[in-house]
Amino acid sequence: MISCFPAVWWALPRDGWAIDSTMQPKPEANGQADRPWRPLGRFGSPGYYWRKAREWGFRLGYDRARAARIEAEKFAELGFDRERALVELDGILRDAGKPPFRDAGGMASVHWLLFACLRNEWAPRRILEIGTYDGETAALLSRLFPASEIATVDLPESDPILRQTYNREGEAGIAKFLEAQVRNTSAANITLHKVNSFFVPMTVRGLFDLTWVDGGHLTAVQL
Ligand SMILES: C[S@@+](CC[C@H](N)C(=O)[O-])C[C@H]1O[C@@H](n2cnc3c(N)ncnc32)[C@H](O)[C@@H]1O
Repeated sequence: MISCFPAVWWALPRDGWAIDSTMQPKPEANGQADRPWRPLGRFGSPGYYWRKAREWGFRLGYDRARAARIEAEKFAELGFDRERALVELDGILRDAGKPPFRDAGGMASVHWLLFACLRNEWAPRRILEIGTYDGETAALLSRLFPASEIATVDLPESDPILRQTYNREGEAGIAKFLEAQVRNTSAANITLHKVNSFFVPMTVRGLFDLTWVDGGHLTAVQL
């Protein structure tokens, strides 16, 4: 019984089983309302357990020390002083009342450190971020590059994809999200555009020196 379990698991459909994580849009968000709706949410989908198993497989096989070494080598190859940037980044975060940098905390990832490195190399005049989310990265960019003009783009709150992803469901979820987004994008050098990134060329004019593309990268097709 136990020995055939992985085979059964493997055979189960892994994609398109409606809700399989809080990050997944509900079917109607993708114009796929004919897909089955599972009241148990992600826990009712075999795909969810499949993905969790794979995730844990990757975690168990993940060599943190090796990954850190490779990352340090890549920064060195690019001629960046990673250690200096880390100290500076932590200083900026501390001044903003935030905890020190962790490459897996909330929306933070190695891109924050990369921006801190870039800051020591050159000053972008205009920065474009696609996918604002709650504006944490836009706020950081504004502190790292106070003389830059930062345009950041996310979906309007009327968009079903926004409403049904990243825990923004329900009135409480959306209110909390919007409060953070307004607060984080309130710096004078940030302009938030609530528009699908598809319309960026028509909405956000001009050229940009630095673009951070971090919009929809869930399983559903988004830009
Ligand atoms: C990973 S989050 C962005 C995180 C943010 N850039 C950061 O570093 O903190 C992705 C965001 O992209 C937005 N998004 C998804 N599809 C989009 C689209 N077509 N146009 C604009 N924004 C989109 C989502 O609403 C979500 O807020």
